Amino acid sequence: SLPRAVTIYEVGPRDGLQNEKATVPTATKARFVSRLHAAGLPVVESTSFVHPKWVPQLADAADLVDALVDELGDVAREMPVLVPNERGLDRALEKGLRHIAIFGSATETFAQRNLNRSLDEQFAMFEPTVRRAREAGLDVRAYVSMCFGDPWEGGVPVEQVVDVGRRLFDLGASQLSLGDTIGTGTAGHVGALLRAFNEAGLPNESLAMHFHDTYGQALSNAVAALRHGITTFDASAGGLGGCPYAKSATGNLATEDLVWLLTGLGVEHGVDLDALVSTSAWMAGELGRPSPSAVVRAMSG
Ligand code: HMG
Ligand code: MG
Repeated sequence: SLPRAVTIYEVGPRDGLQNEKATVPTATKARFVSRLHAAGLPVVESTSFVHPKWVPQLADAADLVDALVDELGDVAREMPVLVPNERGLDRALEKGLRHIAIFGSATETFAQRNLNRSLDEQFAMFEPTVRRAREAGLDVRAYVSMCFGDPWEGGVPVEQVVDVGRRLFDLGASQLSLGDTIGTGTAGHVGALLRAFNEAGLPNESLAMHFHDTYGQALSNAVAALRHGITTFDASAGGLGGCPYAKSATGNLATEDLVWLLTGLGVEHGVDLDALVSTSAWMAGELGRPSPSAVVRAMSG
């Protein structure tokens, strides 16, 4: 049986826009976030407080939060942001934000490329970040990247992913998001990984799935995770996105494609698909290229 309802965790403004060649003006980003919120998405990750030289596309994070608070009030402070370290946490605290997400790597190579740390050193960076965030009453999500494969290392053993995920979760996270950063995962692998996490003591309620659609597997992987009982799914409006530090990480699972699937299965999601499609079609125009989402193309053609 399938879950009655799921939570869609929207990552388009962050995972999507961090990877765009063009730098999107802050006002356009604010419009994008508030239209996604208005379309009924319950969680919208708005930006990243990472080093501005590493991700120049999101260097305006503080200004964007100001713009969102002007427009949406306190709701904007509930929107999660990516934070890699204490410096990022300080910047988020200055803005009064309530939800942060740390992002760890299941592999050595990607830890070095994305965080400038070894696999082990990443925990030393996250530990004081999460501790101080929790002391300040913030909620912390933890991503794990390269859960299904790594472009430099190839296959990634399930035990290695579970070990890293468990360590990140135990720092004090409320949820672990399992990332198929390069989209190579398939449905059987999803089931095996989720069973291994359950056996390691993480119930489905603590887990979210973060699929990229590089190999066209994201929807089928989502079905496998739904059948397993997962109730939080990350997705990106219009299928924008990737990761600038992961070779070949193209678009995320498109939120519209996920919504279409869920509606067809009778799983509640609370999103207004028409409002979402028109938002993504507008954003595609701003970016000057068509949306890679099949549902956006079909519904806005
Ligand atoms: P580093 O160079 O090792 O940093 O970068 P450092 O700690 O050595 O500090 C160097 C300087 O940077 C210092 O300044 C710091 O203050 C400053 P100085 O004293 O020299 O003047 N600094 C900062 N400034 C602003 N904000 C900060 C910050 N931190 C340090 N937060 C670091 C280490 C982690 C910062 C860097 O590697 C980084 O920013 N990485 C982020 C990469 C990134 O954002 N990748 C994309 C997101 S992950 C993703 O997309 C995957 C995901 O979607 C899931 C999936 O698909 O798998 C989540
Ligand atoms: Mg991602």
